[in-house]
Amino acid sequence: MDEKKHEVTELIRLAYDAQSRSYSPYSGFATGAALEAEDGTVYQGCNIENAAYTPSNCAERTAFFKAVSEGQRRFRRIAIVGNYPGQQGDYCAPCGVCRQVMREFCDPETFEIILARGADDYRTYLLRELLPESFGPQDLER
Ligand code: THU
Repeated sequence: MDEKKHEVTELIRLAYDAQSRSYSPYSGFATGAALEAEDGTVYQGCNIENAAYTPSNCAERTAFFKAVSEGQRRFRRIAIVGNYPGQQGDYCAPCGVCRQVMREFCDPETFEIILARGADDYRTYLLRELLPESFGPQDLER
């Protein structure tokens, strides 16, 4: 196992660990994310649902908002997992809102999104691939 692979595997493990804390009584669908900052710090997130439904937050945004609120703004990659507990899930792609939140803080050409459906079963995408022709902070520069 090369070094990069080992690191990805560790990120996936941390995403599953975060998933174990999912609060998802309404959908029953549990998600987890592990967001790696450029300095190597990892921020975990899970989905947090709400009886009023719309205040629900995805695992990815939980991780980003935790990180940004702690002063981090530069990120390398994120591992994401999602499935109904007890069922073999598929790769869980981030929703459009989460992709846009990633776009605010990440370079679409380099930020990696790792979708895992098992400890060692994953696919990696660039943000550019999942959010092409995007609108970002640079578009609001005067
Ligand atoms: N969810 C995430 O946390 N991340 C995704 O990428 C897709 C969806 C959550 C939102 C909601 O709590 C549940 O999964 C079902 O949509």
